[in-house]
Amino acid sequence: MSINKQILLAKRPEGTPDKDTFKFAETDIKKPENGEVLIRTIYVSVDPYMRGRMVDAPSYVPPYQIDDVLGGGAIGEVVESKSSQFAIGDIVLGSYGWQSYYTAKEDEVRKIDKDIAPISTHLGILGMPGLTAYFGLLDIGKPKEGETVVISGAAGAVGSVVGQIAKIKGAHVVGIAGTDEKNQYLKEELHFDETINYKTTSNLQEDIAKACPNGVDVYFDNVGGEISDAVHSNLNKYARISICGAISSYNLEGEDIGPRIQTTLIKKSVLMQGFTLGDFADRFAEGSKALAQWLQEDKLKYEETIKEGFDKIPEAFLDLFEGNNIGKLLVKVDE
Ligand SMILES: NC(=O)c1ccc[n+]([C@@H]2O[C@H](COP(=O)([O-])OP(=O)(O)OC[C@H]3O[C@@H](n4cnc5c(N)ncnc54)[C@H](OP(=O)(O)O)[C@@H]3O)[C@@H](O)[C@H]2O)c1
Repeated sequence: MSINKQILLAKRPEGTPDKDTFKFAETDIKKPENGEVLIRTIYVSVDPYMRGRMVDAPSYVPPYQIDDVLGGGAIGEVVESKSSQFAIGDIVLGSYGWQSYYTAKEDEVRKIDKDIAPISTHLGILGMPGLTAYFGLLDIGKPKEGETVVISGAAGAVGSVVGQIAKIKGAHVVGIAGTDEKNQYLKEELHFDETINYKTTSNLQEDIAKACPNGVDVYFDNVGGEISDAVHSNLNKYARISICGAISSYNLEGEDIGPRIQTTLIKKSVLMQGFTLGDFADRFAEGSKALAQWLQEDKLKYEETIKEGFDKIPEAFLDLFEGNNIGKLLVKVDE
């Protein structure tokens, strides 16, 4: 247990990252000092936004530097404590990223409740993706009963929660995802009303029109690009578009040029708003409480795609761009 395994940014990717983007390293474990805890990592999160941090450009989170550990959500167990706030055995959440051990200052991590659901859910439905779905849909999309909500990236960590919350609110819910297996899951397990496989459809715009006989009132956009172009052509008057992500463009070099949308927005009086979860930081307690309650009442279900082994982390990250996940993609690095 004297060695800390880490994964560093080896070089900035051009286009889709590959194995040369990452570098494995080992360092000594730092003994905790007063006010610190040593954490043994159990789960590491891989998230699409990490691709953005590999680019040396200003954003809402600072870019990774070359030879930095790839920072991001992680859950671990406290194995040594020099803090009065944490005991050995506590399970904590932090954003210290892709490393097998981490010596944290006590304000860098927070204890998570082991009793509500498996601890991994704090990186998924009860964590950042779940909160993103909650605020992005309810505060920006504002679905009303009987309205139609369309979600792209519908079978992923965020999208699968958005659709279920939209169902709770009484909406007609249409999910767009990249495999038949995902769409079957959305319909049969999560009770989405309609689903569309964007990879096999011959006319996405027409399929959206068929799945949304009353038009689209809310579009929760996780992917951008041509999928969103097809949704935009089906918008109703006063529709709301919640721009959560644009994963279809994250590996593009240069600008992502598409149809100009201004005229559509004007003609239909559409409201389009981008957001990051941090915009809602002062209301996380509200979102966490609602998600935990719905989960306990069986109104929300979740799926996780879990890879095993520290060495699998880069591969798991790349899987996000291949669509190899249903629900939240995680790597379990230790028991
Ligand atoms: N604004 C915020 O604060 C915030 C917070 C969290 C996440 N996000 C964004 O929300 C989106 C979803 O994140 P997530 O964590 O829930 O990831 P996710 O949906 O669990 O995983 C990514 C999924 O994106 C789809 N995808 C990949 N490449 C694509 C492409 N070229 N075109 C269309 N779909 C593609 C794949 O599903 P298919 O098989 O369906 O293609 C893949 O499974 C991302 O864009 C992410 O950046 C934003």
